[in-house]
Amino acid sequence: MRKLLLVPTVTAVLAAAASCAPEPVEEASPIELVTSDLELMYGIISPNAEVVWDSVGTIVDDTGQNDFAPETDEEWEEVADRALGLAESANLLLLPERAQGRQVWIDTAVMMRDRAIRASETALLRDAEALLDAGGVLYEACVACHEEYLVEQTVF
Ligand code: HEC
Repeated sequence: MRKLLLVPTVTAVLAAAASCAPEPVEEASPIELVTSDLELMYGIISPNAEVVWDSVGTIVDDTGQNDFAPETDEEWEEVADRALGLAESANLLLLPERAQGRQVWIDTAVMMRDRAIRASETALLRDAEALLDAGGVLYEACVACHEEYLVEQTVF
């Protein structure tokens, strides 16, 4: 008997609570995409990536094989900063408006972010060989997304 009485009471309390609760308000996002995907690539991502990739390597000329890498503290820090810029710009790719729930897009952008962070760390450690490797695996993240979504490939 007690049980039967309890049920309507609980229901009534829940109903009262529901009617008092404020209506959930949809917060409008202040984020508005400024660039197209292509503008983001050319304006932010590519310039940062080029600094990382061009910072270390080997030039073969008349004098033979010459390895090069950043030399001064400023040069290493510049590479580390650009790689971090790249890592943060992966988050721009991950904005829901841009990612549109596409799984490969999300996975490759996360890959790009993690690998750019790795590149930055190698630059802070002034490790030219590790930076060369990190640049290579970073490139794979770019290609992985492009293979899936780039319709007309003109660069890579
Ligand atoms: C999550 C997906 C994604 C990742 C990761 C990505 N891109 Fe892109 N990228 C695109 C898309 C999409 C386009 C084509 C945009 C269009 O044509 O509208 C593009 C185009 C480009 C272009 C122009 C290519 C051409 O052939 O015209 C360059 C350059 C570029 N990306 C550089 C990079 C670099 C460098 C990286 C890695 C550091 C990178 N992208 C990582 C999605 C990505």
